[in-house]
Amino acid sequence: MKITKPINLAIAAMAGLAFACGSGEKSTETTTIEPVGTPAAPEKEMSLEEKYQDDPIYIKGLAKLKASDCTSCHMVERKIVGPSYAEVAAKYESTEENINMLAQKVVNGGVGVWGEIPMPAHPTVSLEDAKDMVAYVLILKK
Ligand code: HEC
Repeated sequence: MKITKPINLAIAAMAGLAFACGSGEKSTETTTIEPVGTPAAPEKEMSLEEKYQDDPIYIKGLAKLKASDCTSCHMVERKIVGPSYAEVAAKYESTEENINMLAQKVVNGGVGVWGEIPMPAHPTVSLEDAKDMVAYVLILKK
């Protein structure tokens, strides 16, 4: 007892320190509550990749997307830096107007629709390729 007590105190003090540092660093992160159930689909349900993998729009768009840097910020069903493709697909109807508008955003970059993080411009992506990519994104509806 005589030995363990000071050690316990020391551990408690260190834990307190670590906690103070940790909370200081995290103070800029405001989102602590993850929406429950978004990624955890019932087991039977197909992933969106499986659902659309044979669609020519899917195949063409995905090939172009993979050749660019999109995947470093976007995933199909999970938000990382940018919104998930499924979220984008849920927000916009797959109309020519929307495909045009979003393709221009991919080429020119933009910010403010999904938050404060901007999407950089993609000057090396042609508008045609961007349209194929966006068409792929917009079919990914649940
Ligand atoms: C560096 C990270 C990054 C990369 C790389 C990136 N995006 Fe984004 N993207 C974002 C962010 C952040 C947003 C949200 C922008 C906003 O809030 O307006 C976004 C938004 C979008 C949207 C929705 C736009 C809207 O107005 O709703 C589409 C579609 C999209 N990206 C497609 C792509 C495609 C296709 C590529 C590859 C050519 C790509 N992104 C590459 C970060 C990225």
